[in-house]
Amino acid sequence: MSIDLIIHSANQVLTLTGDAPKRGANQGELSIIRSGAIAIAGEEIIAVGDTLDLLALADTRTRKIDARGKIVLPGFVDAHTHAVFAGNRANEFEMRLQGASYLDIQKAGGGIMSTVRATRTALIDDLVEQARARLDAMLAHGTTTAEVKTGYGLDTANELKMLNAIATLNANHAMDIVPTFLGAHVVPEEFKGREDAYVDLVVNEMLPTMTNYKHLHRTQVQVLQITNSSLVTRHSPLFCDTFCDDGAFTLLQTRRILTRAKELGFGLRVHADEFANLGAATLAAELGAASADHLMVTRRDEMRAMAQANVVAVLLPGTTFGLGKKDFADGRAFVEENVPVALGSDINPGTCWCESMPFIIALACRYEKLTPAEAIVAATINAAASLGIANQVGSLAPGKLADALIADVPDYRHLAYRFGANPIETVIKRGKIATRMNADERG
Ligand code: NIG
Ligand code: FE
Repeated sequence: MSIDLIIHSANQVLTLTGDAPKRGANQGELSIIRSGAIAIAGEEIIAVGDTLDLLALADTRTRKIDARGKIVLPGFVDAHTHAVFAGNRANEFEMRLQGASYLDIQKAGGGIMSTVRATRTALIDDLVEQARARLDAMLAHGTTTAEVKTGYGLDTANELKMLNAIATLNANHAMDIVPTFLGAHVVPEEFKGREDAYVDLVVNEMLPTMTNYKHLHRTQVQVLQITNSSLVTRHSPLFCDTFCDDGAFTLLQTRRILTRAKELGFGLRVHADEFANLGAATLAAELGAASADHLMVTRRDEMRAMAQANVVAVLLPGTTFGLGKKDFADGRAFVEENVPVALGSDINPGTCWCESMPFIIALACRYEKLTPAEAIVAATINAAASLGIANQVGSLAPGKLADALIADVPDYRHLAYRFGANPIETVIKRGKIATRMNADERG
């Protein structure tokens, strides 16, 4: 076995061992190796351990990167994004600064619907190119895997166009993408007054149509050559999400959509408790959803139901910040109630245009009361677990994809402590150097 790349002499290698989401007292379990190294062959991690032990595995063809004074960690997994969309809503941002609320703007015909209009008229190639720039920025900030939702098409043809744009990006961009169907993002304007007819369309036409698109996605059904030359198939489900909130879908409508999606084999996610508590977190627990997301106004008893049902809490502090609000989700309470906590950027044109998971970590520590270690777990293995791919990514262990970051900071706390600049120096995606900033080659 020939080793292609060894990253060595790191102050800290954060391995985050294991494939299971971390919760409660283990939410901050980083499993650090000091003066550590990782060895990579092809797309996979071969070994993780002490620098001297791993350097002994090198041969003349092995590339070596010296990470002295720096840290090595798994690539970030962004558990919740709306990274594919056309246009922008800078005008609405300015209106909010002048006192209008997100819901006011939506009721006046703006909001999600304004991005839907732009996305419907965009050609798929435009959608792909506009999203590509955002994925490039996300990758440079350390995101090696991201969930990406549809939800700006809101008719069958345009939702399919979005799913195809996502599949095209997944095939052509270094980042791995896990797709989510979000046909129930908002009721489109042409269904005003006939909301349940739109729910019928989602349930009877869109959901069955989308199930046929599973084969398009590299992260879902893929055949990989692994170390012992055996072939394995790695699976993750296609997800279905629903925005359950004032101005979006009621609890009853959400239940109908997610119940049908579950019958059709979708994994479930839900936008819950972003503005109003309609009971979506409890519904997520009842239906065995993979995640409930946002959770700014969730009660303790609902958190306990989520813990019981192994629903991952995906917290999105960038959205609260982006809206200029103060009601951040109570991350500490979720940890106390034994709910695995994950993080996402929620990158979208309305509430949070943010490509940086390090900035999300910085926010989560200050306003959601996670420790730096807990936030790093939330942005890696727990996010992967919420997407059903924790056996492939999210920690540094032999057999996992070689998705790793070198951060130019002396210890992991600096990822949360500093903010506003990019601490990620090198991004390794599937064993290849995807981006490398200002790094000298000391071998
Ligand atoms: O997560 N809440 C719904 N979806 C997005 C906002 C999308 C938009 O405004 O375009 C969110 O905040
Ligand atoms: Fe969202």
